[in-house]
Amino acid sequence: MSEQPKRPAPGAEPAPPAPPAPERRATLVAAEHLAVGYSAAPVLQEVEFQLRAGERIGVLGPNGGGKTTLFRALLGELKPLAGELRVAVRAGTVPQTERSRLDFPVSALDVALMGAIAGRPWWQRPGRRERAAAHAALRRVGLDGLHDRSFGELSGGQRQRVLVARALVQDARVVLLDEPFTGLDNVSTARLEQLLDELAQEGRGVLIATHDVEQARAWDRVLCLNRRQIAFGPPAQTLSLEVLASTYGGSIVTLEERDGERLAILPPHHHHHDH
Ligand SMILES: Nc1ncnc2c1ncn2[C@@H]1O[C@H](COP(=O)(O)OP(=O)(O)OP(=O)(O)O)[C@@H](O)[C@H]1O
Ligand SMILES: [Mg+2]
Repeated sequence: MSEQPKRPAPGAEPAPPAPPAPERRATLVAAEHLAVGYSAAPVLQEVEFQLRAGERIGVLGPNGGGKTTLFRALLGELKPLAGELRVAVRAGTVPQTERSRLDFPVSALDVALMGAIAGRPWWQRPGRRERAAAHAALRRVGLDGLHDRSFGELSGGQRQRVLVARALVQDARVVLLDEPFTGLDNVSTARLEQLLDELAQEGRGVLIATHDVEQARAWDRVLCLNRRQIAFGPPAQTLSLEVLASTYGGSIVTLEERDGERLAILPPHHHHHDH
């Protein structure tokens, strides 16, 4: 490689306003030899990856593989037991759904507003600015018309989009989504995928935990976890049968040939596929 600084040749056209090449974009998250756990014993080890601005990373792994644990570390809820985790910017999260949380009588707007009032003293009620920001975020995810609906009444896909709106109100540059597609139909899935693409195009970094390997192939990189990091890289190079077997252990049930490519078919998970 040349040591000389790259300078445009005389008469060369000015640099187009295209986004910088991936390797030039800001690193938003970096993990090095990271170990995380809930006691002295780590449940996830040897994690080593980077999330750059504009990138969607699929986080794959079996139940108990450590996906949610990694997200909790990224949010600062768990301190590294070993290694380093640098999160350069504010992170917002779309948590793994627990049905029990859906019974609270809060509206879609209330949930989006939580992004504005987090970090403020408890006695301060949200003001006009916060409400305007929450409405704008709901509009951004296509849901402003439903702002006064109760959160629990919304469809699964609508709830996920409200939670994305909450992250937008927080102005999260790193958006963490923990199995956001669970239980969604195809239309809602496509809509949420489109929204995540847009978040990345805006320069945010998006980490998505999913059980759908085929879905993750469309994203920029995959991070495979099974109590430790199995692999990290672009899906095409990373998702080999060996990596899938180490990631999912004995739970891969079928290997199928499609378009000359061998695909690993995973067993039905808790999103209840019918057979
Ligand atoms: N609060 C906790 N205290 C102790 N151990 C925990 C706690 N939460 C999770 N664990 C353990 O950490 C390990 C990783 O769990 P984690 O929830 O991160 O997996 P996951 O990949 O998110 O799984 P799933 O696909 O089921 O959501 C599991 O062995 C789990 O039992
Ligand atoms: Mg989880």
